[in-house]
Amino acid sequence: MKRFLDLADFSREQILDLLALAQSLQDHPQPRALAGKILGLVFLNPSLRTLASFQVGMSRLGGDSFVITPGQGTWQLETRLNAVMNGAAAEHVREGIPVLASYCDALGVRAFADGKALQSDLNETFFGMIDGLCDKPLINMESAMNHPCQALADWRTLDELRIPKRSKFVLSWAYHPKPLPLAVPAAILHMAAMRGMEVVVARPDGFALPPQIMAKARVAAASAGGSVNETSDRTEALAGAQVLYAKEWGSTLHYGDAQGDSRLRAGLADWCVNERWFTGALPDAKLMHCLPVRRNVAVADEVLDGPRSLVRLEAFNRLAVQMAVLHRMLA
Ligand code: CP
Repeated sequence: MKRFLDLADFSREQILDLLALAQSLQDHPQPRALAGKILGLVFLNPSLRTLASFQVGMSRLGGDSFVITPGQGTWQLETRLNAVMNGAAAEHVREGIPVLASYCDALGVRAFADGKALQSDLNETFFGMIDGLCDKPLINMESAMNHPCQALADWRTLDELRIPKRSKFVLSWAYHPKPLPLAVPAAILHMAAMRGMEVVVARPDGFALPPQIMAKARVAAASAGGSVNETSDRTEALAGAQVLYAKEWGSTLHYGDAQGDSRLRAGLADWCVNERWFTGALPDAKLMHCLPVRRNVAVADEVLDGPRSLVRLEAFNRLAVQMAVLHRMLA
């Protein structure tokens, strides 16, 4: 495997094979599998889980890793093409990425959406440049429109809990004071569709996921025997739901327009998941969220601290699936 950028690049069988490898590495540790291998990790945006789990995963397989957080002990990296570099950044990613790739056996990069032009972010313009600059195996640790490591971990979590493939999976918008990227909702929508679930996206008007993202998921759902629908009616969405995946994201109607987004979300603070949301759901319905989560803003304490919550298991599963990805790339 040379690239891990998008679950959609893999067949369902390849994903199941990766999940089986994750289980095998957990049951039968291979502490020397990646001895002598080095993973470079470049974080253009903050992280807790991704940063820690990739370093730990590499160590548990016998390899080493280094972390670059541009501007924090290393040169600030310029990311704009054709920039006149007379500001804070002393080095461009066009030099920085190939140099770092030359030191390691695989590279992971986190680079969130620019958040200004929707089409450019949908095209993965920046991550496409990184892809072209990296001649070593490359892992997407969250790009403008994707987070395949989170999606794979969440697939494993659903399998581990034996959540039936044909059950109802609701991906719901949740409140946040600021617009957040579309990477996680897009990746999770695709994962649930590819798993063959009955997916419903619940979101207020103005927060619909882009048609390209919905269409891509519908193709995956058709191939897996599932479905993808959307509604702004939370009650309708949650009727009979087995899983509620809560996620905050920005308005697509006002993409790149902070004031427009702010006006639209001002009256939506009741999109904070609490126990009442589950009234029409299955009695053992679960709550998922990729973390970090703002307690009592996006999800209430009573849900996060209750038996429905899978958030810690999801985070733990990041380690297992990323070890499988590293093993496939480097062993
Ligand atoms: N879910 C996730 O990617 O967490 P971090 O942003 O902490 O890495």
